[in-house]
Amino acid sequence: MNPALETLALALREHAIVQPALFLGAEPHPDLLRATGWQPLKPLSDLCATAGMSMADEPQGKYATVLFLPGKSKEETLAGFARAHNFLAPGGILIAALANTSGAARFEKELSKAAPLLFSVSKNKCRAFAVGNTEPWDTAILTAWRGLSEPRIIRNTTFTVVPGVFSADHIDPGSALLAEYLPASLRGEIADLGAGWGFLSHVALGKCPGITRIDLFEADSRALACSRKNVTGAAEFHWHDVTAGLPGKYDHILTNPPFHTGQARDIGLGHAFLTTAARSLKRGGCLHLVANRQLPYEAHLESLGLRPRLLAETGGFKVITAS
Ligand SMILES: C[S@@+](CC[C@H](N)C(=O)[O-])C[C@H]1O[C@@H](n2cnc3c(N)ncnc32)[C@H](O)[C@@H]1O
Repeated sequence: MNPALETLALALREHAIVQPALFLGAEPHPDLLRATGWQPLKPLSDLCATAGMSMADEPQGKYATVLFLPGKSKEETLAGFARAHNFLAPGGILIAALANTSGAARFEKELSKAAPLLFSVSKNKCRAFAVGNTEPWDTAILTAWRGLSEPRIIRNTTFTVVPGVFSADHIDPGSALLAEYLPASLRGEIADLGAGWGFLSHVALGKCPGITRIDLFEADSRALACSRKNVTGAAEFHWHDVTAGLPGKYDHILTNPPFHTGQARDIGLGHAFLTTAARSLKRGGCLHLVANRQLPYEAHLESLGLRPRLLAETGGFKVITAS
């Protein structure tokens, strides 16, 4: 179990905090299942729902307790503090928890600039810290933090992104390489696995007039929301866990597979993407893949009955097709 989650639950027990709560960045924990959860990542959201937590796509209302497990980026965390404040009832309490290696002490200090710290609990190499909503929070700080969550355009492009999503301030160089090697002759029904904010689908629809439809599958609801702005034309958008399989079969599948779960390297996730891709190609269909050079995907593709062919290897990436 995520040690920051354990520490959050411990802080609730130690300080006898009232529930029901709103839980932003929710993950399943036996002590927290009465909370209303919000979780943008589909696999985690599904785990929470299966464990019995009631999940909200867009939480509403005010809560006496707001719990917050931040994501990876600094902007996302600070914007998350401001968002948590929106849901706090007068007199309510916000408790956030992070790993020490993710900057727990630094973020505790940041939060205490907006409102006085109530308590802090250190355990499991993590820290949970709380502020109240009895006094108004510092307005200038709240306004600055709110601004961090605003959608923005990647410099020199027309692409909309928000903090916290994959490649939130640039086009991923691996995806750019795959885009360069996508044949203009690509046609039929296409799937984009782990579509992020939509770069590959945008390029494919612009470059390949024979595409009849492209289905974007993405686990992060915030990235998917951006892709709706970035991809126009014959596209459908699915908040979906690719490792659970796809609902249809495709002529071509595009992917720059993830290989991290949270902060940790997870080659199994990349392999699961390729397994789903292999099962979801129509007869004669083709997978178009980019990966870091050192990732051992070829053997896995062969074990799935696909024939990998190296198209390019440059800048630390390799582009592979497999039919
Ligand atoms: C390496 S990024 C590529 C993103 C995008 N295709 C691009 O080129 O910018 C991998 C994407 O897979 C998404 N992802 C991770 N796990 C997933 C899962 N289980 N199901 C669907 N998408 C997932 C991540 O949120 C991320 O957007």
